Amino acid sequence: MNQRDFIRTLGAASLGLLFGDDLWARYASQPAHQLAQDEAFWARIRGQYLLTPEYINLENGYYLMQSQPVLEAFIRHVREINVQASRYLRTRQYDDKAAVRARLAGLAGCSPDELIITRNTTESLDTVIAGFDWKPGDEAVMAEQDYGAMLDMFRLQARRYGIVNRVVSLPMNPRSDDEIVRLYESVITPKTRLLMVAQLVNITGQILPVAKIAAMAHRHAVQVMVDGAHAFAHLDFTIPSLGCDYYGASLHKWLGAPLGAGILYVRRDLIKPLWPIYSDTTMADDDIRKLNHTGTHPVHTDLGINDAIDYHLGIGVQRKEARLRFLQRYWTDKVRSTKNIIVNTPDDPARSCGIANVGVAGMVPAELAKTLLEKYKIWTVAIDGAGVHGARITPHLFITTRELDQLVKALKEIAAGRS
Ligand SMILES: Cc1ncc(COP(=O)(O)O)c(C=O)c1O
Repeated sequence: MNQRDFIRTLGAASLGLLFGDDLWARYASQPAHQLAQDEAFWARIRGQYLLTPEYINLENGYYLMQSQPVLEAFIRHVREINVQASRYLRTRQYDDKAAVRARLAGLAGCSPDELIITRNTTESLDTVIAGFDWKPGDEAVMAEQDYGAMLDMFRLQARRYGIVNRVVSLPMNPRSDDEIVRLYESVITPKTRLLMVAQLVNITGQILPVAKIAAMAHRHAVQVMVDGAHAFAHLDFTIPSLGCDYYGASLHKWLGAPLGAGILYVRRDLIKPLWPIYSDTTMADDDIRKLNHTGTHPVHTDLGINDAIDYHLGIGVQRKEARLRFLQRYWTDKVRSTKNIIVNTPDDPARSCGIANVGVAGMVPAELAKTLLEKYKIWTVAIDGAGVHGARITPHLFITTRELDQLVKALKEIAAGRS
């Protein structure tokens, strides 16, 4: 098998093959917001996922299942690498990984020299937090709605180096971007060195004005690290457009890559001062690959990223974003003003996309998630902290409006039972 066959590209995942060229051309010419509401189109996409009949999966934000074309390609990679074994690892692995990295950089809009493939967002962002040259009394800024693993990593630096963590709490419905920017600015001091901000808050689905926050932070000479776990391959943007210094994301979430794939972006001039967690003296201090020496790892996952990119590009990120936002608003608009139902997601459609969170007055989130699963066969996750109490709902492209109608019906019945 030659190199070309080995790293599978478009072919299997092409939507031209799925729909036929004429029909695909007709769909492709529609504006994204219009196609977002075309159930016949999305039903064909749904057909490319192997879904369980046991429950409706509304928890795709944690780990998104691979579509069948991506999964089949991944299995081929596993089989092929199993045959070539160490010969692959000693020879082709490096060029193949470089090719995937270059494609990811293309998707992110940055230079391949500023990006590495990691195992997940946790590895990416913790590499930055732990690699920073902290001095006692240095300060970092973050939000209580940020992800626990990163908050923990900052706490660890506080114990280890005596840094001070300043934690804000995000308003759900800010009057303007400026309100959020000023909130972050209010805790910056002359000792602040790093600000962490989520592009899309995982527990509420809130999109934050990251570019404006980064511009403000830079005026104070504070570096900015963006948690893009839920934004990458969900929203249409490039990393440089955010103006941040560091960016981490997981590819097994919205890109639909095999489990255990992520990216870390570090702005070129900030690579040198960052300490790696794992030493690699073969790499120059200003080569981002110095941060990437995690030992022998599942290289077939790296190859699977290629197929996931094909699938993602086949649909198109604008169409994907439009469909995901449509699905979220489809159900939240139907319950937002219902008695006893609390939507923990911004009202403004521009401040959220596919993720939302819903609570029922007087009901603990775990009980709500349990009821949704046991009584209504709807799989979600309970969120109970940082001022957010409810079930997080993350539909993916294969979820239908009919399934969301079932969610709405379930929520209304549960809420009616509380009064
Ligand atoms: C906002 C956010 N950051 C980071 C992570 C960590 O992602 P991973 O477990 O893939 O490292 C998650 C996971 O859900 C998340 O929601």
